[in-house]
Amino acid sequence: MLIKVRKPWELREQDVTSQQLYVNRRQVIAGLGIAGAAAALPVSALAGAFDGAIKTDWGKDELPTSLKDITSYNNFYEFGTDKGDPKKYAHKLTTDPWSIKISGECAKPGTYALEDILKGQDVEERIYRLRCVEAWSMVVPWNGIQLSEILKKFEPTSKAKYVSFKTLYRPKEMWGQRRNFIDWPYEEGLRMDEAMHPLTMAAIGIYGDTIPNQNGAPIRLVVPWKYGFKSIKSIVEIEFTEKEPRTSWNIRLPREYGFYANVNPTVDHPRWSQAKERRIGDFFRTPTKMFNGYASEVASLYDGMDLRSFY
Ligand code: MTE
Repeated sequence: MLIKVRKPWELREQDVTSQQLYVNRRQVIAGLGIAGAAAALPVSALAGAFDGAIKTDWGKDELPTSLKDITSYNNFYEFGTDKGDPKKYAHKLTTDPWSIKISGECAKPGTYALEDILKGQDVEERIYRLRCVEAWSMVVPWNGIQLSEILKKFEPTSKAKYVSFKTLYRPKEMWGQRRNFIDWPYEEGLRMDEAMHPLTMAAIGIYGDTIPNQNGAPIRLVVPWKYGFKSIKSIVEIEFTEKEPRTSWNIRLPREYGFYANVNPTVDHPRWSQAKERRIGDFFRTPTKMFNGYASEVASLYDGMDLRSFY
């Protein structure tokens, strides 16, 4: 019998499965519980690496964007600047073995294998809206771990006020890094309370399967109330810092991209309006919500801050 081992970037069932069907399948599985679902459905229907992920209520009423769109319309400048480039070139990236260097203000610095970091963690499914600063958006069913659960392991000290993240620098596999489009490697950062917020996630899967390379394999950040550029892909370094860390887009265009980058329809980008967005797959633009619709969860993090100057 020929068993085809699917590469993470190859598309599968969900490409051709309609969004509604996927939602229904999720509900069926959720209703049965994983053990029951496994018994009731053919193995092929449950082939994803994270089909056993804990279902959460996040985004349960959202209609997820198709896997095809999520994996073929990307920003991952290490592989080129066209939206289709990451899908074309990201298969060149070696994601196994993978380790992450932990440094700075914490009790347990070191270089850890990804398996060791993930060991014992519960993988959840959370459906989040992703709003790019370029005014397009998607709804992504992520599989991953609450970031706070990972960061806690390294015992950040009281001096850790921020946390910074870096993407892999490997121009041999990431041809975009041979051009000085960004001061590589891509880096991003969060304030510690943002990083520890229950909404912040380290994603390792999409639609129940391993995260495709073009979406940031093997592990990326997901911060749903901020513009997508904060959600850094393919992370190899995490540093706890006392001072606000450098961030790639702020270095490149400081007037356009600040450290906070909270989704805010009332503050326009210097070159375009942020009032509306186009959901990929939709024709019409819809109004953008404050904090991308997560205001009740996160607005209090910014009490007393002028959100116009902390853009
Ligand atoms: N991370 C790295 N390392 N390089 C990038 O170019 N692009 C960012 C973010 N993370 C980017 C990155 C931007 S601008 C967005 S909108 C999201 O990834 C896009 O994520 P997606 O391609 O999975 O939709």
